[in-house]
Amino acid sequence: MIDLHCHLLPGIDDGAANLAASLDLARASVDSGITHAVCTPHIHFGYFNNDIDIIRSTHDIFASALDRENIPLKTHFAAEIRITPEIAKLFANKTLPFLGYLDGLPVLLVELPHSHIPPGTEQLIAWLIANGVRPMIAHPERNRDVLSNFNKASWLKGRGVMFQITAGAFTGTFGSRVQKCAHRMLKEGFGDIVATDAHNLHKRPPEMKGAYEFISQEFDAEYATNLCKFNPWRMASCWFEGE
Ligand SMILES: [Fe+2]
Repeated sequence: MIDLHCHLLPGIDDGAANLAASLDLARASVDSGITHAVCTPHIHFGYFNNDIDIIRSTHDIFASALDRENIPLKTHFAAEIRITPEIAKLFANKTLPFLGYLDGLPVLLVELPHSHIPPGTEQLIAWLIANGVRPMIAHPERNRDVLSNFNKASWLKGRGVMFQITAGAFTGTFGSRVQKCAHRMLKEGFGDIVATDAHNLHKRPPEMKGAYEFISQEFDAEYATNLCKFNPWRMASCWFEGE
């Protein structure tokens, strides 16, 4: 399976604290059936001031360590960027780390605050789409506006975004409300990919296998395979060509 949202890179956000923790998470990812991962550390100005150069060089260190330790996980890097008007500046400077490409258009993993859908979201989404970027909303099933009113999920989808739903939402890691919301998103056909958003082994491990089994049982194996493998691969295969 292909994981397009995880915090495996060492020491640059609230994910893996150091290289040893990164390697442990990578091993757990492999155990969960993941063969390829795009590492997406936070870019959240004022909290995690990462940029594409920091992310690339941290990924280089991580990728060499994976090689050295013979961990069979192929990786690339992108980011999970908190919604901000700064996105327009990064786009102009060509320093937005894209998750991959879909039908020739770059895909950007965008994070909303957990508390609500902030004012300006609609405008930023429209601006991205007008500029040929396809926004992918990270974990919409955990947004409190969406949790209290499912119409907000329909509204977001109607703006033309894609949804990344978190594997752990299906396995119950975030509680039954989030699980129900994630389930309903799949029922409505709102899910584009499932990804782990893994941060650490104890509370936020990679749970791809459990999500795959849940979706296979509740829906069917073809749906699970599309969400966990084919759809993410369509976007990220460009990073792994030549394999
Ligand atoms: Fe994340």
